[in-house]
Amino acid sequence: MQRHGKHDALLVRSEHPFNAGPPADRLRARFLTPTELFFVRNHGEAPEVDRGAFRLRLGGEVEQPLELSLADLGAFPRRTIVATLQCAGNRRQELVRHRPIPHELPWGIEAISTAAWAGVSLADLLAAARPTPAARHVAFTGLDETERRGERFRYGGSIPLERALAPEVLLATEMSGMPLPAIHGGPLRVLVPGWIGARSVKWLAEIELRATPSDNYFQRVAYRLFPASAGPETVDWESGAMLGELPVVSLITAPEEDARLAPGPTRIEGVALSGGGREIVRVEVTGDGGASWATAALEPSSERWAWRFWRAELDLAPGERELAVRAWDAAAQTQPATIAEVWNFKGYANNAWHRVRVRVEAPPR
Ligand code: MTE
Repeated sequence: MQRHGKHDALLVRSEHPFNAGPPADRLRARFLTPTELFFVRNHGEAPEVDRGAFRLRLGGEVEQPLELSLADLGAFPRRTIVATLQCAGNRRQELVRHRPIPHELPWGIEAISTAAWAGVSLADLLAAARPTPAARHVAFTGLDETERRGERFRYGGSIPLERALAPEVLLATEMSGMPLPAIHGGPLRVLVPGWIGARSVKWLAEIELRATPSDNYFQRVAYRLFPASAGPETVDWESGAMLGELPVVSLITAPEEDARLAPGPTRIEGVALSGGGREIVRVEVTGDGGASWATAALEPSSERWAWRFWRAELDLAPGERELAVRAWDAAAQTQPATIAEVWNFKGYANNAWHRVRVRVEAPPR
């Protein structure tokens, strides 16, 4: 076991702060990612939180501000949601190969994992606090500090009030049957299913209802989507679209990049996920650059907010082959074919077809 209770097999993208995720061969091993393998995305060092002294403050545009201990939170109805968390920066490595993206983590496919989260619905707290008519956004601030542009500040972000009122948006205290580990935001974090991971603020300490989105750097500047023509020197930071709901995406977890395979029928498997709770309705794989596609079998699942496992078979002839996958969701949305179509200088929201190069060789006689 590595530090933070994490598995030795994790791919570590940075030690300080700790950023890591499961290698492809473990990413899909179980529908609920074992917590020791669940990816970690931190912008600063994990803070130590005194559970006894801990108070969550909820204020701003509300008629009744609240200050709640962990025991007070426990008095609200407990809910459990199985949900996949995916970082907006997942698969940045493929974007970097297309055009460099300095100063950002070069994630492979590992910034995605699934857990059964338990806690209280944010909506229940909001009902107790009674938002005023001016309230449009719910801003969250964590206890961890980070430094950007020469300033130290706490991590934060926001979601629209409309989203915050949905019952599946949790203030989570448990992860897959255990108290929420410190590295995942314990004792308390936000969980916004179907949205980029960045809005699921860890080490949650403050909730503020506001007329406008959070002014925090990670809402106002980072986690915005810019056109391919924009660059860090010339960009108007306010002009990018604030990322929220996840796009439809699919990943091949086996075989892995550079695998050597025998010719013939070959099992391909992976995961697919869409934003906003939209169901994955079809997954297709190709071994010939998209000239022909095989429809994958979807594993049965009733978990609306979680990834969908799929598997398919392709008959592979000897040679260098590129496998690719694409998914459709219930809104008939699918994935762009090329990285060039999704490239942006911050490296977010890569949902292009996931391609994996393999070598197919007849075994020596
Ligand atoms: N919350 C705080 N307080 N600090 C952070 O650095 N990172 C965000 C989000 N919440 C972050 C945070 C990002 S970008 C992601 S993808 C998820 O937490 C990752 O959650 P995990 O580490 O539990 O996988």
